[in-house]
Amino acid sequence: MKVFLTRELPEIAFHLLKKNKINYNCYEKDSPVPRKRLLKEVQNCDGLVCLLTEQIDKEVIDKMKYCKIIANYAVGYNNIDVDYAKQKEIIVTNTPDVLTESTADLTMALILACARRVSEGESFLKAGKYKTWKPNLLLGTELKNKTFGIIGAGRIGSAVSIRARAFGTNIVYHSLSRNINLEELTAAKKVTLNFLLKHSDFISIHLPLNRNTYHYFNDSKFKLVKRNAILINTSRGELIDEKYLIRYLKEGRLQSVGLDVFENEPDINPELLKFPNVLVLPHMGSATNEARSGMANLAVSNVINVLKGHPPLTPVK
Ligand code: DGY
Repeated sequence: MKVFLTRELPEIAFHLLKKNKINYNCYEKDSPVPRKRLLKEVQNCDGLVCLLTEQIDKEVIDKMKYCKIIANYAVGYNNIDVDYAKQKEIIVTNTPDVLTESTADLTMALILACARRVSEGESFLKAGKYKTWKPNLLLGTELKNKTFGIIGAGRIGSAVSIRARAFGTNIVYHSLSRNINLEELTAAKKVTLNFLLKHSDFISIHLPLNRNTYHYFNDSKFKLVKRNAILINTSRGELIDEKYLIRYLKEGRLQSVGLDVFENEPDINPELLKFPNVLVLPHMGSATNEARSGMANLAVSNVINVLKGHPPLTPVK
């Protein structure tokens, strides 16, 4: 049995494969595996561990002769044609839970940094502009008593809400189903999307990317957003139609925006980089030792389970 890993992962991944006497082959460079190499490797592997930087589409899946499992090293799996894999009886797994706290921490870091203009303050100081303390220098916003809107109250959305509640915000959420646990923990109220957009001082997006959510945040949604709101996205860049984000930023309608993800990642629209009130990060929501080891452990455990004839731990759908 052979597993192909498209990137070097934390040591636990290789430790588990060796312990279970499973042969593996790993792309040797710390960059996305070239498509040609991917197409070649998947022909002979029994299991694939891949990253969100690889498109596992029909062409790749059609090359798989023996592959029983595609284990994504991510909770999001928009890079995989899951329906087609299912048709071909290939199991797809992701890495939920293990990155929830890390991603929620980073979301909170963006929220606080946007509210208190942390990045602007640092740039100001490093540019040698800090000459004296001033009553009106870089004034921001307190979180206490503000309305905090969460779009998508799943694992990460809930973990962010718990943090935001601890800062004294009033939580409203928009989600397909009611989250009673979240309501009990944070006094959150389920509201319509229109209500959330019109009333929230902070909006944090926590939706999966799929054909229903592509460009979810479009002109009609931006139109409803409360003036001077702070918008945060740590989910997937394609959820926001960036041309409208840029338009609304130019019109000065948003106080600040914190983005960990981008529509054409890793290419960033240069317009976005010009706004001092847009804080940008290189998709690092799950970038902690804890989360990345947990993701490696879970992705490879899924592969081992399936190759040994057991059910996967975290199948998608
Ligand atoms: C995910 O897991 O989907 C993140 O975007 C990367 O950790």
